[in-house]
Amino acid sequence: FNSNIILFILAYLLGSFPSGLIVGLIFFKKDIRNFGSGNIGTTNTFRILGPKAGIAVLFADVFKGWLAVNLFKLCHIHVVNLVLLITGLLAILGHTFSIFLKFKGGKAVATIAGVLFAYNFNFALVCATIFLPMIFITSCISLSALISIVIIFILSFLFHDIYLSILLGFLVLLVYIRHRSNIIRLINGKENIIPFGLFYWY
Ligand code: G3P
Repeated sequence: FNSNIILFILAYLLGSFPSGLIVGLIFFKKDIRNFGSGNIGTTNTFRILGPKAGIAVLFADVFKGWLAVNLFKLCHIHVVNLVLLITGLLAILGHTFSIFLKFKGGKAVATIAGVLFAYNFNFALVCATIFLPMIFITSCISLSALISIVIIFILSFLFHDIYLSILLGFLVLLVYIRHRSNIIRLINGKENIIPFGLFYWY
């Protein structure tokens, strides 16, 4: 068995770790899938279990993506960027289609952040300066993610990394597919907003 394959599998398993579900079950005796949006991600954890749990899940889900991309470095194996991106993608797919949740899972946002920070720190900072103000402007996490991922995809072309742009093109699709229920709520004016930001005050 080739060591790349082992690390690919490990990345998928790492991504599959359902931190929101685990934090809810262990510390709150709640299956977060039965509350709020039913998602296991950071936003729903904040919504249902509060800021401490939300921050913990945010860190865990970002960390999964970051660690996956760094697996090769940790094992002192030198690989080309394409392999790093595939590893990151596998962690993201693990998060969204977790082997521990019958191939259900989260909506990809936090794990994408972790992958980008590990892969290209400067580009990830640019992404953060798009996504975070967007939250403040829209008062809506899902809408911020949906708008930001498209902008981030377009901006990626400035970095002349074709594989990164291809990955982000795919991630645009993935994020939109995973946010289907959010998109329907947004169209019907029923999407959850967060209690701060311009839209909320307005
Ligand atoms: O990170 C997922 C976010 O974009 C939406 O989460 O719980 O409002 O569906 P939620």
